[in-house]
Amino acid sequence: MQNMELKAETIRVVGPCDIWSFPLKMKERHPLEYVRQFPHLRCRNNTLGSLLRIRSEATAAIHSFFQDNGYVHIHTPIITSNDCEGAGDLFQIETSNEARESAEKTHFFNVPAFLTVSGQLHLEVMSGAFTHVFTFGPTFRAENSQSRRHLAEFYMVEAELSFTESLQDIMQVMEDLFKTATSTVLSKCPRDVELFHKYMAPAQKDRLEQMLKNKFVTISYSEAVEILKRASQTFTFKPEWGCDLQTEHEKYLVKHCGEVPVFVINYPYDLKPFYMRDNEDGPQHTVAAVDLLVPGVGELCGGSLREERLPFLESRLQRLGLTDAYQWYLDLRKFGSVPHGGFGMGFERYLQYILGVDNIKDVIPFPRFSHSCLL
Ligand code: 4AD
Ligand code: MG
Repeated sequence: MQNMELKAETIRVVGPCDIWSFPLKMKERHPLEYVRQFPHLRCRNNTLGSLLRIRSEATAAIHSFFQDNGYVHIHTPIITSNDCEGAGDLFQIETSNEARESAEKTHFFNVPAFLTVSGQLHLEVMSGAFTHVFTFGPTFRAENSQSRRHLAEFYMVEAELSFTESLQDIMQVMEDLFKTATSTVLSKCPRDVELFHKYMAPAQKDRLEQMLKNKFVTISYSEAVEILKRASQTFTFKPEWGCDLQTEHEKYLVKHCGEVPVFVINYPYDLKPFYMRDNEDGPQHTVAAVDLLVPGVGELCGGSLREERLPFLESRLQRLGLTDAYQWYLDLRKFGSVPHGGFGMGFERYLQYILGVDNIKDVIPFPRFSHSCLL
């Protein structure tokens, strides 16, 4: 509704626009898939405009949360020679000359280099010098996925905490970060958030308010598998101890717990990367890992305690044939290590969740995914 009209004496055209061929119509509520075709113009549309203002506030809120809690911000590198963290498929980088000369390859850096899949290992270096550190930057995964929650280039918030022996400490930071950033966004851009909550996800406002008041739920991976096995629903992937939780499983678990954020902790040793801390339990051998699952999105955060004990790490790297590549990582343990841990949160998935946006491509200004790199 319009409660005011403007009477103009003169009008000066600053920059003409051919409204007949301009693809975004003033009074139309275009579907998000439609405006996605125009990455150079869609920021002029209401929805994307609101989204980008919220994204900017959320970025500031996340930085403030960490700065206010004594974390040092580290710019972890985008180009890295770590190739086997196991977090996802890598993009290898080469100069345009190298790309042309297919025979007898030389490397610009002398070694193969990649776009980072996570700043974690570099943060671990820094956590040996500062107690609490964080990074918040672009992250790249060559996942051949067109799913509504995967991008090839996304932003990740990562934190690393020294002197922690409990996964609960890490989970507390995840929960505090989530709640503090969300409260700030809700209070700083109420009108922009309202646009999403009114037109796109009507039930989201109440759900968020409830979520901010209640403690997140925690279950172990073993409990999760039991819950799935007892489910009356039939899954495409049969739940079995030792297998990864699939999207359908995550969805069921979140529903089972009452459509609230759920921490799943202590995953099978063999499912997780080498740096996760051995719980030395048995016969169902686990590591101190945690994933945070949220309604509508699935996995929002992943984290763990890190293996700080040199002999454990040495033998695991040796079994994986990675000892040489990770000599520097072993040094971090050899030259004075402390119990530590951390986590990463996908920033776009965070925005998807709080705003109730179905597709991840609509919460980033210029989405990159397999078979699409517009602009
Ligand atoms: O669970 P992930 O792979 O964890 C790590 O990379 C750890 N090294 C982080 C750490 O401990 N410092 O990724 C963390 C989060 C996921 O939970 C998910 O939200 C997001 O990053 N993510 C993606 N978001 C968009 N597109 C993708 N392709 C994503 N892959 C992961
Ligand atoms: Mg993960």
